[in-house]
Amino acid sequence: MFSSWLGGVITDPALMQVPLDDHLVHRGHGVFDTCTLSSGRLYRLGIHIDRLLHSAELARIEHPWNKDDLIEMVVDTASAAGIRDGAVRYWMSVGPGGFSPSPKECPEACFYCIIFDPAPLGAEGLDPMRTGISEATVLDTPMKPPLLATIKSNNYLLNVLTHMEAVDRGGTFGVLVDDDGYVAESCVLNTAFVTNDGVLCTPPFDGILLGTTIRRVMDLASGALTGEGLISSVSQAPVLASEVRGDLISEMFLCGGDTHLFPVTSWDGVPVGAGEVGPVARRLIELLDGEAFGDAVGEARDFIDVPYDD
Ligand SMILES: Cc1ncc(COP(=O)(O)O)c(C=O)c1O
Repeated sequence: MFSSWLGGVITDPALMQVPLDDHLVHRGHGVFDTCTLSSGRLYRLGIHIDRLLHSAELARIEHPWNKDDLIEMVVDTASAAGIRDGAVRYWMSVGPGGFSPSPKECPEACFYCIIFDPAPLGAEGLDPMRTGISEATVLDTPMKPPLLATIKSNNYLLNVLTHMEAVDRGGTFGVLVDDDGYVAESCVLNTAFVTNDGVLCTPPFDGILLGTTIRRVMDLASGALTGEGLISSVSQAPVLASEVRGDLISEMFLCGGDTHLFPVTSWDGVPVGAGEVGPVARRLIELLDGEAFGDAVGEARDFIDVPYDD
């Protein structure tokens, strides 16, 4: 773990702590982002740091760091951790200083970064990216207001409740639908659909998180997948939940976290398309996987080599 508060990298887990008076903890006045550590390289760190800086600006966090400084702190953490494969998460907060709502009492912004082993999702032995998932519309947990939804902030209570309600309803991550019936996003994932005439469609980013994975998916789809004839085009346009139910959609999937793409085979108990993992989702998983973990060379490859001591 790296902590700017402690002034460096900590390797003793007992000391990997955040001060309780950091407004990150008791006010949620902090933002975060992630990336993937794959074979000793940080995958797409740049695009995630851009989003962190955007979130910090919207959350009005004053800090001294530019993009290169932040990248350096993440690279140093990965290097000190010494592991080649894992998940990376980092937070920028207004910092410690007291328990009021005002950041004026916080003398310095803080940056924390951890490298960790992500828990596998799904039942033991089953990979939900291969088998597909069931989803449920979330009805009782409200959507975030647009300002909060577009900041990747430390306020994830509604995201957690979205997931929990989805599980209660027989789903997995949950699908949020707005008051006008348009699909928004999932608890920590963006949504995408393939229409019967081959258009890969995802909702516009107003009022939802500007996903990094869905943007890569759209690039891969408009390049490789149109070339292969798996889809006809890519579009970012509002999607009515009723259209998905009305047999106009052949595939639906959720994606996030750089390499996670979950085909949705049923939604609220109704099969999506043929009710099985479709060819578009399968091919996109292969491409994302190949790019992040394999040797595939894609245009938007964004890797930073971590220097290790051994
Ligand atoms: C609310 C929400 N939507 C969408 C996403 C997907 O974003 P990304 O693809 O950048 O992981 C996330 C990721 O954490 C999220 O929290």
